[in-house]
Amino acid sequence: MAFDRRLGATAVRARKGSAFPVITAYDAPFARCAEDAGIDVLLVGDSLGNVVLGFPSTVSVELDDMCRHAGAVVRGTRKAHVIVDLPFGSYEASDEQAVHSAVRLVKAGATSVKLEGGARVADRIAAIVSAGIPVVGHLGVLPQTAGLEAGFRRRRDREIVLADARAVEAGGAFAVVLELVEAAISAEVTQTLSIPTIGIGSGPACDAQVLVMYDALGLYPEPPPFAKRFVNLGEIATDALRTYAREVRDGTFPPPKA
Ligand code: KIV
Repeated sequence: MAFDRRLGATAVRARKGSAFPVITAYDAPFARCAEDAGIDVLLVGDSLGNVVLGFPSTVSVELDDMCRHAGAVVRGTRKAHVIVDLPFGSYEASDEQAVHSAVRLVKAGATSVKLEGGARVADRIAAIVSAGIPVVGHLGVLPQTAGLEAGFRRRRDREIVLADARAVEAGGAFAVVLELVEAAISAEVTQTLSIPTIGIGSGPACDAQVLVMYDALGLYPEPPPFAKRFVNLGEIATDALRTYAREVRDGTFPPPKA
């Protein structure tokens, strides 16, 4: 009988204060690279929509897409904790809908699920946690609805962010992503909560940092200003493909039979 030996939510929660890396992953090969690099908390983000599927936003991403890519990431890794985003439209209608969608992600291999929002989704978080599924919250810029109202501007409303953070923790989340939150507010939230904060563009005081893998690897042409490009894989891949094309055209590849 095979036992699931993946890093659990309780172990991730216990990393509070330890500065750990998180990275998004969408497919088996890159998930394997991340795990081999010692990153054992992966996020199958709905940024999938922008960076892999070529949509202008995350709004078009469906639950089926998330299940498909979650499965690939899980099959490409052995022990990593795999957080999977509940996409737009899969949890807003009711607690029942949220639990149903979260269960589908778990059946696809998710170790936990993430959803966007603060106090207004605290009950949703509690409902999913009651079903036995660990939940990560997401505050600050909320990409699923940013185009509809507040946009992608940095969040500086201290009272609101703090109240939302407390609500998400009270709902039962074991960690919370802070996206584009003013660094001083992120630091205060990190001090206030007993669960880890996972920052993206939110300053150095968060317990963990997360980046979109294709931004970090140079595979996405429009990375946000806060994202660091650790390598330009896009350029490396284009050069390699240019060489392949040239060798086919000039007859160097494939080589003549021995
Ligand atoms: O979808 C995603 O990649 C995310 C990160 C921006 C945290 O939610």
